[in-house]
Amino acid sequence: MSYDHLIVQQQGYVLTVVLNRPKALNALNRQLLSEFNQVLDQFEHDASIRLLVVTGAGEKAFCAGADIKELADLSALEMKEFLSHGQRVFRRLELIRKPSIAAVNGVAVGGGFELSLACSLRIASESASFGLPEARLGMIPGYGGTQRLPRIIGKGKALELMLSGKRISAEEAYRAGIVNAVAAVDLLDQTVRQWAESICANSPVSIRMILEAVDIGGSLAMDNALALETSLDALAAGSLDKREGFAAFLEKRSPNFEGK
Ligand code: CAA
Repeated sequence: MSYDHLIVQQQGYVLTVVLNRPKALNALNRQLLSEFNQVLDQFEHDASIRLLVVTGAGEKAFCAGADIKELADLSALEMKEFLSHGQRVFRRLELIRKPSIAAVNGVAVGGGFELSLACSLRIASESASFGLPEARLGMIPGYGGTQRLPRIIGKGKALELMLSGKRISAEEAYRAGIVNAVAAVDLLDQTVRQWAESICANSPVSIRMILEAVDIGGSLAMDNALALETSLDALAAGSLDKREGFAAFLEKRSPNFEGK
């Protein structure tokens, strides 16, 4: 499958999608988001894919957010549809219950930052920067930023970023708990690959249950969340992966998980 605004390639268990509008700093227009949604079809249904990496083309940007040129003249109703479309695509990424890593290779602002927040993990190059400048445009973060960022780093720092609209460095993002790791510019791909491979070596069943427990449990009262955790763990215990994981440990060898 070929796309106008994305480059997609699979290596081993890992599917990489490159946002490919470098002249517009990989800004998200409707077509790019629709194409991204098609990639999610492949990610969801192809059992040979265990993890998605999202990154940006060029050396400057991961993604500069929603395409401001496309947004400029929208009516309120058209804007509602534009925002819901992006929200649905980003939410779907979380609901697939396979992990994703944003490889943030440059500027990640507005909807671009929000896309990275919908990924399970974020790994940034030293040249990356992060910001939610929507208040400077008379808008608010509308691709999930007001909800996901406080859940990831807490309300205080999230409000600091949203209210100021300022951009912070990869290092500050690391200290704030936004990114999981920072790599030298020329080591970003290699670092992301190492993280991806170590995750893909684990049981896909366990990973699915962990993502579900954290996502659903996060909006439940503690007792209900713990009950969910028990049910998901018991479900995992019935899998072939659990049998393989225990056998491998007892036989002192590496497990070979099939995700069943
Ligand atoms: N949409 C469309 N085009 C964009 C864009 C965007 N979000 N961001 C950058 N571009 C375009 C610029 O218009 C420019 O194109 P031209 O060469 O044709 O003029 C090109 O990309 C390069 O941009 P700059 O010259 O501005 O590059 P810079 O290095 O000087 O600055 C930047 C980089 C600080 C990211 C700056 O481009 C910028 O502030 N961009 C806008 C970021 C922004 O406000 N994003 C939020 C969008 S709203 C949103 O995302 C809402 C939501 O939550 C859903």
